[in-house]
Amino acid sequence: MTKALGGLRGKFVVLGVSGGIAAYKGIELARLLQAAGAEVQVVLTEGALEFVQPLPFQVLTGRVPISKMFPIEGGAHAGDMPHISLTAKAALVVIAPAAANIIGKFAQGLGDDFLSTLLLSARGPVLVAPAMNTRMWENEAVRANVATLRTRGHIVMEPGSGRLARAEEGEGPGRMPEPAEILEDVLRLIGTPQDLAGLHLLVTAGPTRERWDAVRFLSNRSTGKMGYAVAAAAAARGARVTLVSGPAALPDPEGVETVRVESCEEMRAAVLKAWPGVQAAVMAAAVADYRPADPRNGKQKKGEGGLTLELERTPDILAELGEDKRGRILIGFAAETGELRENARAKLKRKKLNLIVANAVAGADDAMGADESRAILIGPEGEEELPRMAKGELAHRLLDRLAVLWQEKGDTSKTSA
Ligand code: C5P
Repeated sequence: MTKALGGLRGKFVVLGVSGGIAAYKGIELARLLQAAGAEVQVVLTEGALEFVQPLPFQVLTGRVPISKMFPIEGGAHAGDMPHISLTAKAALVVIAPAAANIIGKFAQGLGDDFLSTLLLSARGPVLVAPAMNTRMWENEAVRANVATLRTRGHIVMEPGSGRLARAEEGEGPGRMPEPAEILEDVLRLIGTPQDLAGLHLLVTAGPTRERWDAVRFLSNRSTGKMGYAVAAAAAARGARVTLVSGPAALPDPEGVETVRVESCEEMRAAVLKAWPGVQAAVMAAAVADYRPADPRNGKQKKGEGGLTLELERTPDILAELGEDKRGRILIGFAAETGELRENARAKLKRKKLNLIVANAVAGADDAMGADESRAILIGPEGEEELPRMAKGELAHRLLDRLAVLWQEKGDTSKTSA
């Protein structure tokens, strides 16, 4: 089950709980979804409120459960209609337990309370975990409603068999599937594969600032979007991530250990500290190549004439890591305004990288500060030219390559062991 941990990070799930003795198991399911990384909004029907209190759900999910259509509850702002806005951002709606009534309303398209109305705006398949008395589950109308939902592409789980709530009712199908089984279905439907579980990854991001007096510095246009996207995507895929970031106006990615630095020298110190403990690094920072040779303590006064600022080279952090790889995987970026492939290939070799991401930083394909990038992934064996895509998607494409490299390392260490 540890493989599943974090598999729902970044996913928003609506959990509808309807009336029935199994409603208490909805609390356990809310906990499991939350533990797997999901953000969970619970919706309780009037029937559910006869069996459970909203408070345990609120404590576990950090959100107040919604049960009434009116007055409007759970809206982020005035005019927000949660029965529409929640499904717009939900990766999945789960109904557990789903009693015969909500199954019937969903199949017939009725909306007379919050949960049924929300279901009318659900996008994609809804996961339904039925729970009811065996004779109700076997009722013709219920059978027809379940068949209708399945025909429409919804996933209606098979209820478990066993002793029902009232022992004298005997045994038969109708018991709600166990919360752990429901979680497995949720992971199958919307979970992110945990193919980087066990990997500790170091990521650098953003620009650096090289101080030349008390108020001035040299920097560049990098915003950190690419490196932050790599860090967030790697965490979602199960990696432990240390992000060393230059000044960027982005929030710390969730579940990522973020170290904020200013200058190349500070970034170098943080990277060298983390490097011995990681198995791979993705260096996406746009580190300054030059810094003022003689930074002042006070503010440089202006004079009549011009001013010549002497610059000196900064240390190349990536090249330094390349000299001390010891079996670790090293991925760099090349931001170029011309001769993209040639320059990137030369850097791949010179810095002893396993892979380099080459992207243009001029013209229509300028990657710096943009939400999208057109990149070429270049390795020793060849290159893969990718179309322009969102940086979040590019991050995943890059991590697909990292996952293969890491897998290969694992395989060789197994054969050499
Ligand atoms: O040589 P160039 O600066 O183009 O190489 C870019 C790659 O090297 C990027 O991955 C960048 O993060 C890294 N780099 C670094 N330290 C520097 C300069 C670049 O780690 N001082």
